[in-house]
Order: sequence, then structure tokens, then C-alpha cells
Amino acid sequence: MPSGWLKGKTAVITGGGRGIGRAAAELFAAEGARLFLTDRDREPLEDSAAQIRKSGGEVQWLEGSVTDADFPSRLAKRVEATFGALDVLVNNAGYTWDKTLHKMTDEQWQAMVEVHLTAPFRLIRALASAMRGAAKAELAQTSMARPRKIVNISSTSATRGNFGQGNYAAAKAGVIGLTRTLAREWGPFNIQVNCAAFGLIDTRLTQAKEGGAKFEHHPLRPADSPANAAPVTIELGIPSEIRAATLKLIPMGRPGTPREAAGVILFFASPLSDYVSGQVLEVAGGS
Ligand SMILES: NC(=O)c1ccc[n+]([C@@H]2O[C@H](COP(=O)([O-])OP(=O)(O)OC[C@H]3O[C@@H](n4cnc5c(N)ncnc54)[C@H](O)[C@@H]3O)[C@@H](O)[C@H]2O)c1
Repeated sequence: MPSGWLKGKTAVITGGGRGIGRAAAELFAAEGARLFLTDRDREPLEDSAAQIRKSGGEVQWLEGSVTDADFPSRLAKRVEATFGALDVLVNNAGYTWDKTLHKMTDEQWQAMVEVHLTAPFRLIRALASAMRGAAKAELAQTSMARPRKIVNISSTSATRGNFGQGNYAAAKAGVIGLTRTLAREWGPFNIQVNCAAFGLIDTRLTQAKEGGAKFEHHPLRPADSPANAAPVTIELGIPSEIRAATLKLIPMGRPGTPREAAGVILFFASPLSDYVSGQVLEVAGGS
């Protein structure tokens, strides 16, 4: 039952083509936000946007990887041309590339740091003018800036650790430090910065690995090593016996749905959290 929590707000959601990002996009649109979605994969992105438009929502999109060096500035230009100022940024795009630490390659480590930590940093920096800059101008004119929101997506792998996810856990822990620091730097501009740390949410990242989805990783710096420049196919998901064991540890006895995850993102994006900043909310079914 929409309540118009985001009426008149503009929002960017990265990774809006699938899973949690898509559910957040649908929820934000239903709550009245004007959206700018991004994803690395064009087909799900277009589909997500088409669905939202069909339901009467307003949405623009930009295809591209958040790890591409020029992506943040391309996005910022489009966002500023479309909306002028920006109210909400959700740093959601990402994937997993698991391996126990003693077998982990530098590329595996770096890939997770780039997508889950460096990309949010660069996107926030690129959108600083549309958020912090806009707030500063409002403050100068009226001595009040409207609330603005950054929602970063972390994981219980960061807050608790998770076998085989040293790279992912470290990057997702890094984004918590980034969140808490930015909450201090941008608090005076009435910008709230928070983190949702999800447990097991039912998406392709947490489906049984056997026969599950695949992700094509493009080497980060092929110019450094042309011999290793071929894309690597990563099998997403969790081995079924580990998934079953994980489910047993969740008091609610089930994974969360993308819609349930999106509800928490909406809380951090809405006026309901106007005096909440620098926080990390674990969303993990009671575990
Ligand atoms: N599913 C979970 O249980 C869970 C738990 C904790 C945290 N998370 C985090 O939630 C976020 C969303 O994950 P999800 O489970 O919805 O996965 P998903 O695969 O269903 O959706 C992620 C979307 O991000 C896009 N994406 C991936 N890498 C990208 C890149 N470099 N540039 C642009 N887009 C990119 C994908 O194409 C995909 O459409 C991720 O940051 C993930 O780490 C998920």
C-alpha cells in the first residue's frame, strides 16, 4: 500500500535490473520517486524500466559497469541534466566471487574491492555536486537544506564474517567505514548516510550454485596483462548443502525476499529516517 514516502524525490539506484535493486526500484517508483537506474546488463535494466513505466512510474536508465573509471562522471552528467539536484543514492550494484583465502587470486580480491567499495566511493564523489553542492546552495539561500539520503548496501558477511568471502566481507566492511565517515562529513548538509547489511536474501547470488546463474567478470586492468585479459565466468550462488545449513541458522527459517530487503532501503531513503545517520542495520531474519 503506497504512502507517497518519496513523492517529489529523485533517486539513483545502481544494479537496478535484478534482485534487491530492482525490488527497490519498483518500491521507490510506487512511493512516488523519479528514478535513474543503472546496471551492467542492458536487458534486465530495460525490462525493469519498462515495468516501472507500465505502472505509471518515471524512470531513466544508464547501462554500464560501476567499476568503469568513467562511469561515475557519465552518470553524474546524466543525472544532473535529468533532475538537476539529487535526493537519494542507493549504492547496490554488486556480485560475489568466493574462494577461501589461501586460494584467492589478486584479481578476485581486487574485483570485490572495486565493485563494493571503490565504486560507491567514486559514485558518491561524482554526485557530490548534485547532493552536497545542492544542499549547500539551499543552506546559503534559506538556512535549511532538504534531507537527502545515501543508502549503501553491506552484508552480514562484513559484520560477522563468512567462510569463503574474505574479499567480499572486507569490501563490504569497508563500505561501513565509508558510511560512518560520510555521515560525519555530510551531516551538516542534512544528508543522512546509512547502510543496510543483508543476510540471506533470495536472489541469484544466494540460489543453489548447482545449475545457477553465471557472471562474466572482465579483468579490471587488461592493459597490464594482455595475456590474462579474457573474461572469467563466475558461478554465482551457494553450494546447496551450505545453503541448507545456513537456512537452519536463521530463526525465521527462510531467506528474506528482495521486496523485504527493499523495504529497509526505503526506510533509509524516506523521511522516516531523517534523524538516523551513520547506522548499519542488519536485515537477517533474526539471526
Ligand atoms: N542476496 C543477498 O543475500 C545479499 C546479501 C547481502 C548483500 N547483498 C548485496 O546486495 C546487492 C544486490 O545483490 P542482489 O542479491 O540483488 O544480486 P543480483 O545479482 O540479483 O542483482 C545485482 C545487480 O547488480 C548488477 N551488477 C553487478 N555488478 C555490476 C557492476 N559492476 N556494475 C553495474 N551493475 C552491476 C547485476 O547485473 C544485477 O542486475 C549487492 O551489493 C550484494 O552484494 C546481497
